[in-house]
Amino acid sequence: MGMGVGIFGTGYAGLVTAVGLAEVGHTVTAIDKDPDIVARLSDGTPTIHEPGLQELLTANLEAGKLRFSTRAEDAMSASKIIFLCVGTPPRADGQADLSQVEEVSRTIGQQLDGYKLIVEKSTVPARTAYWIDTTIRRLAGPEHEFDVASNPEFLREGSAVRDFLRPDRIVIGADTDRARSLLLDLYEPNFDCPIVSTSVTTAELIKQTANSFLATKISFINMVSDLCEELGVDVATVARGIGLDPRIGSHFLNAGLGFGGSCLPKDLSALIRVAEGNGVDVGMLREVERINTARVDRLLAKLERALWVLRNKVIALFGVAFKPDTDDIRGAPSLGVVPRLHGAGACLRVYDPAATRKLERLYPPDDRLTYVDSAFEAVRDAHALVILTDWEEFRSLDLGRVGSLMRTPIVVDGRNLFEPAQMQAAGFEYYSLGRGEATFRTEPKRVHV
Ligand SMILES: NC(=O)c1ccc[n+]([C@@H]2O[C@H](COP(=O)([O-])OP(=O)(O)OC[C@H]3O[C@@H](n4cnc5c(N)ncnc54)[C@H](O)[C@@H]3O)[C@@H](O)[C@H]2O)c1
Repeated sequence: MGMGVGIFGTGYAGLVTAVGLAEVGHTVTAIDKDPDIVARLSDGTPTIHEPGLQELLTANLEAGKLRFSTRAEDAMSASKIIFLCVGTPPRADGQADLSQVEEVSRTIGQQLDGYKLIVEKSTVPARTAYWIDTTIRRLAGPEHEFDVASNPEFLREGSAVRDFLRPDRIVIGADTDRARSLLLDLYEPNFDCPIVSTSVTTAELIKQTANSFLATKISFINMVSDLCEELGVDVATVARGIGLDPRIGSHFLNAGLGFGGSCLPKDLSALIRVAEGNGVDVGMLREVERINTARVDRLLAKLERALWVLRNKVIALFGVAFKPDTDDIRGAPSLGVVPRLHGAGACLRVYDPAATRKLERLYPPDDRLTYVDSAFEAVRDAHALVILTDWEEFRSLDLGRVGSLMRTPIVVDGRNLFEPAQMQAAGFEYYSLGRGEATFRTEPKRVHV
């Protein structure tokens, strides 16, 4: 049976949760404090780029199972279960900034009237639930009943709707029977996957350790990738050779520019701070961070070796988003690459199928920084092409046309999108990561002056 659900925060996690819970039959009231976001969503216009989101948003708005509002009381009056999906960005010292979580907790505390189950879906450090509970209790007074539970979200941007509707597992962290049974009622009838039922603190820790483990896998293969370059070995073959072992698994073993986005870097650094705050040595995780930070340096060193002088060189950049099929640029390599190449005096032509507008707001165009609408426009007369995101569109480009448009057909590929032999045959000087035997330096087909 459908339940009334309130959601605070309609970013990537909150909007997909809202649409997904409405789709499986619940009645959802989603709150965001940004009136523009609420107006657009109420109008049926997605505020983020996610495959499948538009269809579900329209259908559930029309069915009356989903509504958006800026007024917290709309969610409080219509829902027994309230999800916190606000942002928990990193602070300068690496800890999670929990001010948005506190703000919503205060709002709930002021408006509590009858039992509510408050559920952390935002990724938060262990023991955040204690502070949510304390904040609400101080404002609401002892007569009001409520529980605080944790239900971390594991969706991946780019396939968020599918991940939400068909998850690998659902983790429910609850310290009372009432909270646990409400969350089971919400999920069990509609989702066919293992449900891991734990304490609140365990659930909080599961999410941060999951992301830190994924980050560790990526930094591990990137470390191996550097060794492959020295030994004349292809890291993709090593990754395949180890990944077929089910104890290792083949996912998250793609060498390249490392991990980015709004979750892995922040959750890793937040876990490090939690562990160190509890006196636990997590030097291994610090090394995972260090390896990741060095990936962009390595790519830019290759570019500089290929071009010698960067000043006044025209460089096409493919990929602004931190990964394909999203417009999210948080933690993306483009954020490091664009200012550094611009600062070195290069002329940049930036193309991404979905995310250029977001970068444009941070780095407005000027006479040496242009945002263009197609891949071919970006590479016209370029001295080099640098690939930062593995969009499928880049993989399937007409390479002959790309090479013929460039001033010098040099490609520095941070995502190992192409086979080195294929690029050599197409006349490119091709640099990728972790393919020791496979970096070809050929005579350019033609050079315009
Ligand atoms: N993005 C992901 O792929 C993903 C996946 C799993 C978990 N998470 C976690 O979910 C949380 C949210 O992430 P996100 O990427 O959706 O963040 P986001 O920044 O995209 O969205 C947060 C939203 O909350 C709104 N907000 C802030 N304060 C508010 C308030 N007081 N009342 C109502 N709305 C408010 C903001 O306006 C914004 O729209 C984070 O903790 C993140 O780690 C994110």
